[in-house]
Amino acid sequence: MGRVIAIANQKGGVGKTTTSINLSASLAEKGKRVLVIDTDPQGNTTSGLGLDKNELENTIYELMIGECTIQEAIVKNVTDRLDIIPSNVNLAAVEIELIDAEQKEYILKNALSKVKDKYDFIIIDCPPSLSMLTVNAMTSANTVLVPIQCEYYALEGLSQLVHTVNLVKDRLNPDLEMEGVVFTMFDSRTNLSLQVVENVKEHIQENVYKTIIPRNIRLAEAPSYGLPINIYEPKSAGAEAYRLLAEEVIARKF
Ligand SMILES: Nc1ncnc2c1ncn2[C@@H]1O[C@H](COP(=O)(O)OP(=O)(O)OP(=O)(O)O)[C@@H](O)[C@H]1O
Ligand SMILES: [Mg+2]
Repeated sequence: MGRVIAIANQKGGVGKTTTSINLSASLAEKGKRVLVIDTDPQGNTTSGLGLDKNELENTIYELMIGECTIQEAIVKNVTDRLDIIPSNVNLAAVEIELIDAEQKEYILKNALSKVKDKYDFIIIDCPPSLSMLTVNAMTSANTVLVPIQCEYYALEGLSQLVHTVNLVKDRLNPDLEMEGVVFTMFDSRTNLSLQVVENVKEHIQENVYKTIIPRNIRLAEAPSYGLPINIYEPKSAGAEAYRLLAEEVIARKF
């Protein structure tokens, strides 16, 4: 049975998508069968894995409004063993379209139950909000992984996020657990990054992954080539870091 990990933080630009793409690709590189799901209307995971957002027949949007099956929404083997359910700007309307839908928090979970057995890991990239899409992701998930950017306001919003996770756990998904936090965009040339890591560690109870993702220009370039880092620049510091993170994630049992 696959482990479903929601990558969430309502703060924008903290590395959710970069982590979704490259953790997924690194898990696949290690022989795991992986499905990554883009639940952000920005569609950055979709384009970052080389799909044209405007040329998609089915996306997470059609899946959520019941216009296609989950099998029809999955694009297979974007790289070896890595499948994706893509997204594009159409998804922006889904919240309003489903406003009166029954059990709308469970739509993704119910769909995923049909394919969960086929994967070792299902990684869900969340939008930068605590919207119905993020709630759907958390309701489907076993765990929530929170990327934290090594910058001054790193802790801002974290308590709100933990509160949301607890609400989802109480009301929608009693088995939900915190996978933990992963620090991103660590800059070894400044003291600030180090101070942020120490400060956040002092203030949170959650598991902190030992692997820290460095600020690495190759990680920022890779999406414009539609490639995950392990294929774009397999020997870069970014690729090595995401490999180590994948190993830690595999080793962590829930
Ligand atoms: N480790 C890194 N090194 C260098 N650049 C990075 C790194 N991680 C992310 N970036 C860059 O920072 C920007 C934000 O990253 P990303 O898109 O992964 O964040 P996000 O949390 O998904 O953003 P959003 O909230 O908009 O969905 C992107 O331009 C990305 O390429
Ligand atoms: Mg993103």
